[in-house]
Amino acid sequence: MFPCDFAWGAGTAAYQIEGGWQADGKGPSIWDTFCHEKGRVFKEQNGDVACNSYELWEKDLECIQQLGLTHYRLSLSWARLLPNGTTQHVNQKGVQYYNKVIDDLLACNVSPMVTLYHFDLPQALQDQGGWKSPGIATVFDSYAKFCFQTFGDRVKLWITINEPYVCAKLGHEDGIHAPGLKEPGIAAYLVGHNMLRAHAMAWHSYNSFYRPKQRGAVSLAINSDWLEPLRPGCNEDIAATERDLAFTLGWFAWPVFVTGDYPEIMRSAIDSQSKQLGYSGGSRLPRFSQDEPAILGTADFFALNHYTSRKVKPGGGCGQMLCMKSDRDAEEVLDPSWSICGVSWLAVVPHGLRKLLKYIKDTFNNPAVYITENGFSQVGPLQIEDVQRCEFYKDTISEVAKAIEEDGVNVRGYFAWSLLDNFEWADGFSVRFGLFHVDFSDPKLSRTKYWSGQEYAKIIMKYKRATDVQ
Ligand code: GAL
Repeated sequence: MFPCDFAWGAGTAAYQIEGGWQADGKGPSIWDTFCHEKGRVFKEQNGDVACNSYELWEKDLECIQQLGLTHYRLSLSWARLLPNGTTQHVNQKGVQYYNKVIDDLLACNVSPMVTLYHFDLPQALQDQGGWKSPGIATVFDSYAKFCFQTFGDRVKLWITINEPYVCAKLGHEDGIHAPGLKEPGIAAYLVGHNMLRAHAMAWHSYNSFYRPKQRGAVSLAINSDWLEPLRPGCNEDIAATERDLAFTLGWFAWPVFVTGDYPEIMRSAIDSQSKQLGYSGGSRLPRFSQDEPAILGTADFFALNHYTSRKVKPGGGCGQMLCMKSDRDAEEVLDPSWSICGVSWLAVVPHGLRKLLKYIKDTFNNPAVYITENGFSQVGPLQIEDVQRCEFYKDTISEVAKAIEEDGVNVRGYFAWSLLDNFEWADGFSVRFGLFHVDFSDPKLSRTKYWSGQEYAKIIMKYKRATDVQ
């Protein structure tokens, strides 16, 4: 049974839905720059207009109400609020926009969960080194304080940074996300490190200056697949799975929830690989300074983004070059029994979520967990009657129920990804994750509920009724 105050939500992110990329004084972000370069995104698409939620917010609100959500997860565009990234210049139109969104939600009895950073760094800060530069942490902290000060009287659930893993690896190692850097084996660790420092500073600011009055909760959203050994009982596969977990979930969760530092297996794997390849630049995984705010304990809940599962065995490196894949020496494979739905990486494994939730409970001392993203994609011809996605939500949510009832995991909320079809990063508009379809060929960008939207609304209603009866 879901607790009576369980958060039933759906999520979006500013760059993926807002459009209005130059409207009313907004500054450019790294995703604006990245999409406007040739060959970066599917069919050279971009988020210039996207769902135009900057102008059509009321339409989104109607969708939210149709689903009966209790919560809505949105992100703030840093460059819409602070066009050059710093508080020296505040764009009041941006403040007005988010004030309206937040006020409208509350007027409809929907609680906002607000992400400060969902991949879209102001370009002005990228020009000064972006997340690779140590100074970014204090700039982020100022931005966070500005947001707590401006919106925190009404926002009680905050996510500082969404998926530092994805920002670090896809943006700085693989170069397939903005800012499009390919500096394998070096930059991602640095970026991840500065993101953790930035997150921790913002959490401490909230804790000291805003929590006493505002009484909210702050975390960072960590993405993780469920990983298990390819051959159960095979020591090499078990060790590879442990390494893989350390390099993904553990990279960010260990410092925040367990030790204040990176998992030991991660550091030793990186250092031994450096040695083997004759890299002499010192440990590629930075160390936290004792003079800065502590990292340990800087999450008031566990925010989990989860989509899929993998089986793991050793391997998958990149030869004599430095790269993260070689450091982690873990190759992920699919189980042939899993169906792939939509995008190639999304194997549908609802029970993987239950296992991961149990693992989080056992490993991180039974934290309150919000599943801040989970969803199912569609590619190719449009199917409003998306029966497979209906099944996916039913099956997945029943696995969450089992995690609560049978495994005693303290799950506090579930946010479907996504409220709307939107700009799916490098895949542009070719991949649709929405509970509502958006017709991008229609100048009005009309929203139409998928069957899965209907299904999710039914699920929410059913569980809300059940808890009302209690
Ligand atoms: C996450 C990301 C979302 C969304 C989702 C589906 O990594 O936070 O913005 O794109 O994946 O791919």
